[in-house]
Amino acid sequence: MALSVLPLHKHQEYLNDCCDLINDEWKRSKTARLHSLQNSCDNLPTSLILLEEKKLVGHLKLSVIPSKKNACFVESVVIERSHRGKGYGTVLMKEAEAYCKLTLGLDTVYLSTRGQEEFYVKLGYIECMPVSIYGNYVFSNAAPLPVSDNNSIIKTCVTGNIPLPPPLPIFKNVKEKIFMKKAL
Ligand code: ACO
Repeated sequence: MALSVLPLHKHQEYLNDCCDLINDEWKRSKTARLHSLQNSCDNLPTSLILLEEKKLVGHLKLSVIPSKKNACFVESVVIERSHRGKGYGTVLMKEAEAYCKLTLGLDTVYLSTRGQEEFYVKLGYIECMPVSIYGNYVFSNAAPLPVSDNNSIIKTCVTGNIPLPPPLPIFKNVKEKIFMKKAL
């Protein structure tokens, strides 16, 4: 089967199919999804689509990382369910990496995943520190908790004796988000 990888914004006729493909994996309002996909452009963000002949079978999005000018962030990698396990994800990722290097002039690709690490390791990705596509690096958002003289955690805020909020619920079976990168 002939496979091709193309920028979505140059093939708007696939906009609806692409929306349905992504929403089949990660539910979101169609309006919001279409709006996001319509932002695809020659500079980032760019959505790339994988076609088998003329049928849309895959998608990924390349986004800006504000703190890293020579890199981008790969998101929303998805292959249509019945086409998984046939090497299509590999084709899409490799073509996207070539696009990043040759068309966009980038030298590194970052991504995050919950549970698909093995797929990316096979493509040469290695685990790395978190990066943020919203601002600067995110090493840790947690400020250290105040500690009392006897070393126990103080249960109230330092100012105003306001009680601390209850701890966040621990969700079982939610996999840890792993950040990965690959030098191109
Ligand atoms: N766990 C372990 N190994 C995997 C996985 C996995 N989840 N997925 C693929 N592989 C392996 C395959 O067995 C294959 O190994 P081999 O070369 O030894 O035979 C190799 O990776 C390549 O597999 P492909 O057939 O190229 O992968 P596929 O076309 O199935 O696409 C993808 C993989 C994109 C993860 C697909 O399964 C999918 O769409 N999943 C649902 C959406 C998803 O989770 N996307 C990733 C989100 S993370 C992100 O967007 C950055």
